[in-house]
Amino acid sequence: MAFQLNSVVPWGHNLEEYRTMFRLTGEDLSGRIAGFGDGPASFNCEATRLGASVVSFDPIYAFPANALHARIEETRQVVMEQMRANRENYVWTQIKDLDMLESVRMSAMETFLADYEAGRAENRYVPHTLPDRLPYGDGFFDLGLSSHFLLLYPSLGLSFHIEAITEMLRVCREVRIFPVVDLDANKTALAEDVMAYFRKTRTVKLIKTDYEFQKGDNLLLTIR
Ligand SMILES: C[S@@+](CC[C@H](N)C(=O)[O-])C[C@H]1O[C@@H](n2cnc3c(N)ncnc32)[C@H](O)[C@@H]1O
Repeated sequence: MAFQLNSVVPWGHNLEEYRTMFRLTGEDLSGRIAGFGDGPASFNCEATRLGASVVSFDPIYAFPANALHARIEETRQVVMEQMRANRENYVWTQIKDLDMLESVRMSAMETFLADYEAGRAENRYVPHTLPDRLPYGDGFFDLGLSSHFLLLYPSLGLSFHIEAITEMLRVCREVRIFPVVDLDANKTALAEDVMAYFRKTRTVKLIKTDYEFQKGDNLLLTIR
């Protein structure tokens, strides 16, 4: 089935958030990084400006900037209403309130949009749908990141996750996934099954991070 832009709720994080959730060090940022399902995050733009080498993959990069902008505007109120209704499920320390949340997210997505056409021309935003084969050789990237996509939607199923992460591990020497819980911040059987599967052949770790926005979502999964 063709990928539908109207099935995506674009909601992007920034470099500082990626740094905290993935515990990114200066050394990590000096290697080749792949971002899977990076969507409208400003991580690629901000890290590139600092001299990092980042390629982001997402099905939404098949669409032009005006379509992404329209989709972001279409969903902005809906997401903010959901956040308002569920605000007790979040930790309001770094992000103090709903107004600040909207402004931090919109600022990240505006930074992404302003960089998008240039980044596409430089092959920094590559249309790609996991678990399809990636147009890169084995071990090309030092690090692969997945923020708020893998493990968040248990309905995608275990086989999808195994195929997607296997392909990510083909092109990346290490993969980091955040968060490890679902949209209700519940630990899932899916995450346990994914960890058990990769433990057979890889080094799998769960590491506590300083990033916690949804209550209880502060664990990072690393597979290498
Ligand atoms: C909630 S957004 C997260 C964006 C970004 N990683 C961040 O944290 O700011 C989830 C992203 O996953 C992308 N996505 C959905 N299905 C995908 C797939 N099969 N392969 C790769 N990305 C996918 C969506 O297009 C969307 O941009």
